[in-house]
Amino acid sequence: MSPAPHIRRVPPVRFTFAGRAVEGHPGESVGVALMRAGVTVLGKGPGDGGPRGMFCGMGLCQECLVQVAGRRVEACRLAVAEGLVVEPLGPLP
Ligand code: FES
Repeated sequence: MSPAPHIRRVPPVRFTFAGRAVEGHPGESVGVALMRAGVTVLGKGPGDGGPRGMFCGMGLCQECLVQVAGRRVEACRLAVAEGLVVEPLGPLP
């Protein structure tokens, strides 16, 4: 999808999720950039092992937890950055 003609975008940045290269626009969250790239499963649930992904989109539900440098972070509240390495909490379902 191309942006509306009146929206001026700065060049995108590149990060990786589970080794996959993804582009995001500065100011955008990792969760939204992944959704635009078609990545909706960010990990698996601790109980039934079912798929987890963006749900509330504002830092309340913890369904979008991922890892960056060994720390758990919410993908919906993590800004994209050039070279950011994002991993799922465990193997993807
Ligand atoms: S989607 Fe709910 S905390 Fe990120």
